[in-house]
Amino acid sequence: MTVRHIKPGIDSVGAIDWDRRLFDALIPLPQGTSYNSYLVKGSEKTALIDTVDPSKEHELVSNLKKLGVEAIDYVISNHAEQDHSGSIPKILELYPAAKVVANSKCKGLLIELLAVAEERFMEVGDGDSLSLGGRTLEFIHAPWVHWPETMFTYLREDRVLFTCDFLGAHFATSELFSTDSASLYVAAKRYYAEILMPFRTSVKKHLERAADLEPSIIAPSHGPLYDNPEGIIAPYREWSSDLVKNQVVLPFVTMHGSTEKMVGYFADALIRRGIEVKPFNLTRVDLGELAMALVDAATLVLASPTVLSGAHPLAVNAAYLADALRPKLKVAGLIGSYGWGGRMVEQITELLVHVKVDFLEPVVAKGLPGADDYAALDRLAGAVAAKHRELGLLG
Ligand code: FEO
Repeated sequence: MTVRHIKPGIDSVGAIDWDRRLFDALIPLPQGTSYNSYLVKGSEKTALIDTVDPSKEHELVSNLKKLGVEAIDYVISNHAEQDHSGSIPKILELYPAAKVVANSKCKGLLIELLAVAEERFMEVGDGDSLSLGGRTLEFIHAPWVHWPETMFTYLREDRVLFTCDFLGAHFATSELFSTDSASLYVAAKRYYAEILMPFRTSVKKHLERAADLEPSIIAPSHGPLYDNPEGIIAPYREWSSDLVKNQVVLPFVTMHGSTEKMVGYFADALIRRGIEVKPFNLTRVDLGELAMALVDAATLVLASPTVLSGAHPLAVNAAYLADALRPKLKVAGLIGSYGWGGRMVEQITELLVHVKVDFLEPVVAKGLPGADDYAALDRLAGAVAAKHRELGLLG
């Protein structure tokens, strides 16, 4: 990626990863990503804010060469995860006088993850500042969005807020600033769902701290920057709020068609009751799409057959993920089928321990669903509708 000019003395020097399709060996990246790194020059000192994934280290180094950067005094590490910190050792090698500016938790992680020498650090506390000469960096500790050490850096005079993962998006684009609002909105929501939703309480708190600064530019470490900060702050307010929507997320897996028949019938029963339903076939689901659906939905109903006397492994995976992401669900249910017995219901229920939901009566058919099972599915749909009415989601 070429150097991109943000303002006089502030350049974007990171890398676009157009081809990356998977993160953490888990998260699909349908639109690639970027690892943003920012060079900020004052009249006396120069700072590099975050680096790039080690796979793109050569691009960062090339950009610094293109700019003729002879000295870097500070490498600000807002977050120790390797997609932002992984090139710090190379920068320290190229610029032997550079200090890594980090909070104490981040320092510890960088020593453990990257073997950065302790003497290379300058530790900063919440609210500390650092003058570059005519420009001041302020450090704002923002733990748990999404690691314990996460931090924002605010360039006071220019009102640029560098938020690292927070408010970012896995979205490879040649545009420096947000312009493609519809597809960027989806990418940012996917990112929120996968990375930040489990930390909703911290998100709310740090979002208001960020908004109170009234930045003119928000510069995250993935995806484009925002010169209209409300463009990302407003969606984050909605996603992290306590509001849920009149929606049922319905992940399912079927082996010989019994569970699939129940899912089809149940989806129709919900639609007839005025409830939006989002089925996901777990054999071909994009987990990001499923996570995004969980951002808003009031209800999750999982559907699984019984295999090897338990829930299907794909349903186990979906239940584990739904629990780990801590969505603001209010209601949960389970439907499925079995041949001769098993612990499918207990297994799935035991996995949903962190979501604070009302569990509805499960509907499990022996073999092909019969009239009694369809009647039970109607009752389940009615129970979902009643809960949604209680929540004020349905007239
Ligand atoms: Fe983009 Fe938590 O790293």
